[in-house]
Amino acid sequence: MKQVTAILIGAGGRGNEYASYSLQHPEEFKVVAVAEPVRERRERFAEKYGISPENCFADYPELFARGKIADCAMICTQDKMHFEPTMMAIDLGYDILLEKPMSPSLDECITMANRAAEKGVLLSLCYVLRFTEIFQTIKRLLDDGEIGRLIAIQHNENVSFWHQAHSFVRGNWRNSDESCPMILAKSCHDMDLLYYLIGAAPVSVASFGSLNYFNKESAPEGSTARCTDDCKYRDNCPYDATKLYLGKNTAWPVDVISLDTSLDARRKALETGPYGRCVHRCDNNVVDNQVSIITFANGVNVAFTMCAFTKGISRTIKLMGSHGQIEAKLEDTTTNINLYKFQNAGFIKPDQDKYPFCVNVPVNVAEDIHGHGGGDMRLMADFVKNVRSKSKDMLSSAHNSVYSHIMAFAAEKARLENRVVSISEYGFEFKE
Ligand SMILES: NC(=O)c1ccc[n+]([C@@H]2O[C@H](COP(=O)([O-])OP(=O)(O)OC[C@H]3O[C@@H](n4cnc5c(N)ncnc54)[C@H](O)[C@@H]3O)[C@@H](O)[C@H]2O)c1
Repeated sequence: MKQVTAILIGAGGRGNEYASYSLQHPEEFKVVAVAEPVRERRERFAEKYGISPENCFADYPELFARGKIADCAMICTQDKMHFEPTMMAIDLGYDILLEKPMSPSLDECITMANRAAEKGVLLSLCYVLRFTEIFQTIKRLLDDGEIGRLIAIQHNENVSFWHQAHSFVRGNWRNSDESCPMILAKSCHDMDLLYYLIGAAPVSVASFGSLNYFNKESAPEGSTARCTDDCKYRDNCPYDATKLYLGKNTAWPVDVISLDTSLDARRKALETGPYGRCVHRCDNNVVDNQVSIITFANGVNVAFTMCAFTKGISRTIKLMGSHGQIEAKLEDTTTNINLYKFQNAGFIKPDQDKYPFCVNVPVNVAEDIHGHGGGDMRLMADFVKNVRSKSKDMLSSAHNSVYSHIMAFAAEKARLENRVVSISEYGFEFKE
């Protein structure tokens, strides 16, 4: 089997996650060069993956100046830094794995998708949830007509109170001027899943949402600017940074606040850095709840709710068809699907080989799966296979990912302009 070689742009959280595929499957995949400006990250990465010093760079233009030195490029920089390295990689003829969202600019999304098509390179988006068994099973149930004609979907993205505080109040995606709106940064996965499951183009979008709680107006009287300032509300505050970051866990999300995860370094990070700020006193502007309604060309209607105020990180979905309904829940360690057929007047237990997880009691997923319910590593397996075989049969291609971005842009526009936004306003038509 030919080993696929890769370069990595951005050795942060996601870059490390995808690179770890090479540790599980060394015969299939190897990272041979890295561009990462943070020296400690770059050196740690180079040591872990055995990358020689001449193949380590502080910035991506230096790496691309070397020409095409591997089969593919993984672009794992922050949201607003996807376009330039992706275009450089396309022009050099790299097959590309690009983190979501493609870009906060629709023009850039379309330009990248079109340029990749012109150059004949793969441009695969990290829509890892498509690759989870739960959503693959739901897709199969729908395609096999198990619930008849799909009529409507209720879908919830349960962000979790602490995850919202970490990433979208104190962290990297808190301010849309620096990254992008919540519906794109977080919920583009859900836009993509809806498009994938429904299998038709979106037609109209309406959306309502607000920054309801994580604002100055909601700060309890006398609360302090930082959790480390001896805030009198600390004991009863679920967002207290000392509880979130100074406990036993030193993996994600704690490792984001400081590369050095010793207790002293973490305490210092809370005293001086963004993650110790009171959740009511940050420079955040992205919504903490948003409800969008979307109608699709095949008549399917969707109500989608993203909300910060949930006990855990999960996605819950109810798909309603003419002959039955599917209810499913995806959490990191537990997942289940209930299939209900109207004529059976009750829950049924379908064939487990054909429809894994499709039962009426929760099933524990094997503990050794990686993030996103196993989607991360399955996405990598699919990408590596496609690069090796030069197949264009990608589950999450740039072209079919453009619609998820348009839905997110339209939802945000609908929310901001308080009106229904027609997808035709974007003048994009999917071409095979
Ligand atoms: N697919 C998913 O489910 C998923 C989950 C989380 C994040 N993301 C997306 O992945 C991307 C990366 O997120 P992350 O959490 O890994 O962020 P991160 O901040 O941990 O990593 C980004 C890295 O890029 C590096 N970088 C900055 N400038 C660079 C340059 N000029 N050249 C090379 N590297 C440079 C940074 O130093 C950093 O190490 C974001 O777009 C984010 O929205 C996707």
